[in-house]
Amino acid sequence: MSYQCPLCHQPLSSQASSWRCENRHQFDQAKEGYVNLLPVQHKRSKQPGDSADMMLARREFLDAGHYQPLQQKVCDIFARVLEGDALSLLDIGCGEGYYTHAVANRMQEKGPADVHALDVSKVAVRFGAKRYHNVKFCVASSHRLPFADNQFDAVLRIYAPCKAEELARVVKDRGYVLTVTPGPRHLIQFKELIYQHVKLHDETPEQLGGFTLVEEHSLNYPMRLNSEESAALLQMTPFAWRARPEVWGVLATTAEFAVETDFTLRLWQRTRDIAESCQAGQE
Ligand SMILES: C[S@@+](CC[C@H](N)C(=O)[O-])C[C@H]1O[C@@H](n2cnc3c(N)ncnc32)[C@H](O)[C@@H]1O
Ligand SMILES: [Zn+2]
Repeated sequence: MSYQCPLCHQPLSSQASSWRCENRHQFDQAKEGYVNLLPVQHKRSKQPGDSADMMLARREFLDAGHYQPLQQKVCDIFARVLEGDALSLLDIGCGEGYYTHAVANRMQEKGPADVHALDVSKVAVRFGAKRYHNVKFCVASSHRLPFADNQFDAVLRIYAPCKAEELARVVKDRGYVLTVTPGPRHLIQFKELIYQHVKLHDETPEQLGGFTLVEEHSLNYPMRLNSEESAALLQMTPFAWRARPEVWGVLATTAEFAVETDFTLRLWQRTRDIAESCQAGQE
């Protein structure tokens, strides 16, 4: 599968170490193997997405294995529902590829699966491409996916923004989107340190236009983190910028911080509605 030009939407073809479309737009392949498909005019800031500090904190925490049960669960769901041996998958907002490469390993046991990952953060993509060679990485926004229509058997979205129309465009008919979002009690002990009144995460499932919710799973378990790990985890979360210096102080001086995880996994299936099918028939 090849990329689509983010400027004119024509297919890109690979020539030496760059990708080009028939309108001569050109995107260079970095030495780590990823391609940057985020044109300057589509950037909202100079360095969009997670920063190097956030990325390094996440890698250190993930490498310690605390989210391995989630990695395993994601792989198990895909292995169970996806049929065939030449599968194509995309991870949006992939970060440094911790989940993507595990999914790629599992899918590639069955056959030549084509696994793509994208993130708007160049530093995250660079780290991912350097470490994981069974995944094709690109810098791009999940709001404008640089892929042709009906390309993917499945898309993975873990704590990342998305645009339902774009997902519906690139996922094959009857294909899947697997989303992971925080469950009601996710990391509640951090919130108790930061906020006076703790609110549980909202459980109402979002709507994903063009998809039907087919499965919902909860995954929760306690973790015991040393002071470096608890600081790394807080750094990965959106609460980090709300935490006063005292909160970081508590983590630094607590040898074993007990915190709960609570993930909600939702599996959505692409279903064309009647209006869409009529429109497709007229084209
Ligand atoms: C909380 S992190 C999750 C990363 C990874 N899925 C994981 O769980 O380890 C969210 C990721 O989404 C990326 N991101 C934010 N906005 C994005 C966008 N518009 N398109 C693609 N990625 C985006 C960030 O750079 C970051 O890597
Ligand atoms: Zn082009």
